[in-house]
Amino acid sequence: MDVFDAIRAYRPCASFLNQPIPPEKLKRVLSAVRLAPSQQNLQPWRFVVVQDDERKRLLAQASSRGKLIAAAPSVVVAFAVEEDIPVTIGGYISAYPLDVAVAIDHLQLAATAEGLGTNWLIEFNEQKVRSVLHVPEGIHPIAVIPIGYPAEGNGSSAAAGGQGRKSPDEVIAYDQFPW
Ligand SMILES: Cc1cc2nc3c(=O)[nH]c(=O)nc-3n(C[C@H](O)[C@H](O)[C@H](O)COP(=O)(O)O)c2cc1C
Repeated sequence: MDVFDAIRAYRPCASFLNQPIPPEKLKRVLSAVRLAPSQQNLQPWRFVVVQDDERKRLLAQASSRGKLIAAAPSVVVAFAVEEDIPVTIGGYISAYPLDVAVAIDHLQLAATAEGLGTNWLIEFNEQKVRSVLHVPEGIHPIAVIPIGYPAEGNGSSAAAGGQGRKSPDEVIAYDQFPW
């Protein structure tokens, strides 16, 4: 599957099969996050892969999407590292959420290419996540990404491309801002 196929096929996964991910497959998917670009190559991210059932159960209690978290064979929690956080972009925003988001996108596309489904959850209680995963000071959870084989009708689907998205004319312009 090339990158355009993966982009078109990606769909947030709403339910997972009760089937573990082979370690080599998961390793290939995780290798994509390490290769993501970041501002000044600071790589201000860390990823904790939660697979232990009891830890997953506790993590699920930290989110209103707990059922999805508990059902996934693996759950990747993405973190930003405060000491690596650059000051501003354009004088109004720090780069680190963008850096971590780029790495998460790499992860999701790599997972899609491997036939796996993922979702991207920002609905979580930070303190609970910190406590369950023993997160040290200065490190901040940014996203919870359940990952696994999609149940039939969910996850990657070739029919997904473009549905519910704005048209090119609504979001892309040339030479000047036309809207
Ligand atoms: C930054 C970001 C945060 C998201 N947070 C959540 C979330 O907390 N819960 C959830 O169910 N989906 C979440 N999603 C998934 C989006 O809701 C989903 O990608 C969007 O609605 C498009 O869905 P579609 O591809 O099925 O049209 C998130 C996606 C992104 C990119």
